[in-house]
This record gives sequence, structure tokens and C-alpha cells, in this order.
Amino acid sequence: MRKFSPRPSLDLVPIRQATPDDLPAIRKLEQQAETAAHWAEREYDALFAPEAPARIALLAPGNADVPDIRGFVIARAACEEWEIENLVVAAPHRRSGVASALLRELLRTAAAGGAAWVLLEVRESNVAARQLYEKIGFSQAGRRAGYYRGPFEDGLQLKISVAVP
Ligand SMILES: CC(C)(COP(=O)(O)OP(=O)(O)OC[C@H]1O[C@@H](n2cnc3c(N)ncnc32)[C@H](O)[C@@H]1OP(=O)(O)O)[C@@H](O)C(=O)NCCC(=O)NCCS
Repeated sequence: MRKFSPRPSLDLVPIRQATPDDLPAIRKLEQQAETAAHWAEREYDALFAPEAPARIALLAPGNADVPDIRGFVIARAACEEWEIENLVVAAPHRRSGVASALLRELLRTAAAGGAAWVLLEVRESNVAARQLYEKIGFSQAGRRAGYYRGPFEDGLQLKISVAVP
């Protein structure tokens, strides 16, 4: 399995932790992206609830010219194995390194938090996401037949090692 090296960030895209105030913007962005994981409003509301599973939500904020957020990633933090649950970049900001910066920051956070692996599922047909994950260093760990609905499709399970030696 390929391994992520948690070097200091060289990314030019600023990334920060999301807060409950960011949830409307995160939800709006998710709804605009067909291939994103779609959650109900109550699932977003529960993200920061004290009894919710441990999660991390990072976002790439906008700026004075474009105040809307540029992208976000949400992951569940479960001991050794963290799972990316959603990742979306706003269409006008794609192909400028936003998702890469979000993922690298997430992997650094996971490594610092004691994770050994970070994994995720991706639609087999989602070429953009698969290329992105491959470039970051994820590799295929399995296939889940019929994992997705609407449309029905297999999911590929991808994984990367982030364990600090
Ligand atoms: C997939 C997604 C998150 C990529 O975000 P992004 O900010 O454009 O990604 P980056 O700019 O960091 O791209 C890094 C690399 O990923 C690959 N990549 C990204 N978009 C691609 C595309 N449309 N086609 C092919 N490769 C692509 C390229 O290798 C790219 O490097 P390059 O630009 O130097 O060629 C974005 O397209 C998106 O939000 N899609 C809709 C939601 C989604 O599918 N999320 C994933 C759910 S698993």
C-alpha cells in the first residue's frame, strides 16, 4: 500500500476547520455536485452534535472577491481507520488544487491524530475523483458490488497509509 508523507504544507490554498456556521454553505455546495455524497439536512445538523461520531470537517474558504466557500472535505475519525465521507469543490474552482490541498491537510491531521489508514469509497465512473485520489497516493483496496444507488453502480474502496513510523 502506498504511504502518505506528512510533510509541512506547501499548498497555496488556505484551509481551515469548518464550524457550525459553515453548514449552510457546505450543504449548498454539496447539493450542486451530482457525484457528491448527498446527506439530509438533519445529518449535517448532527455533524457537530456532542453525541455524534468523531468527525473532522475542513474547508477552503472564499475571499473578498468570491465569498462562497471553494470546497470542503468531511471525514469520520475512528481510531486507526479514518474514512472520507464527502469531498466537493465548487465547479468554478476545480483543477486549481483545492481538493488536493483539502486532502493533504486531512491526511496530515489523521497522521497527527494517530490514524494508520484513511479510506474512502468512490463511484467507479467518477474519473475525476479517482485520478485525484490516485495522484494523492491512494490505491484500490477492494470493490463493493452495487454500493451506490441512483444510478446503481459499484464502489471502489481506496486506501492510503498515514501511519507515522
Ligand atoms: C473530484 C473533485 C473533488 C476534484 O477537485 P479539484 O479541486 O478539481 O481537484 P484538484 O485541482 O486538486 O486536482 C488534482 C488532480 O486530480 C485529477 N483531476 C481532478 N479533476 C479531474 C478531472 N475532471 N478529470 C481528470 N482528472 C482530474 C488531476 O490529476 C488533477 O491534477 P492536474 O490538475 O494537475 O491534472 C471535484 O471534481 C468535485 O468536487 N467533483 C464533484 C464531487 C465529487 O465527485 N466528489 C468526490 C466524491 S468520492
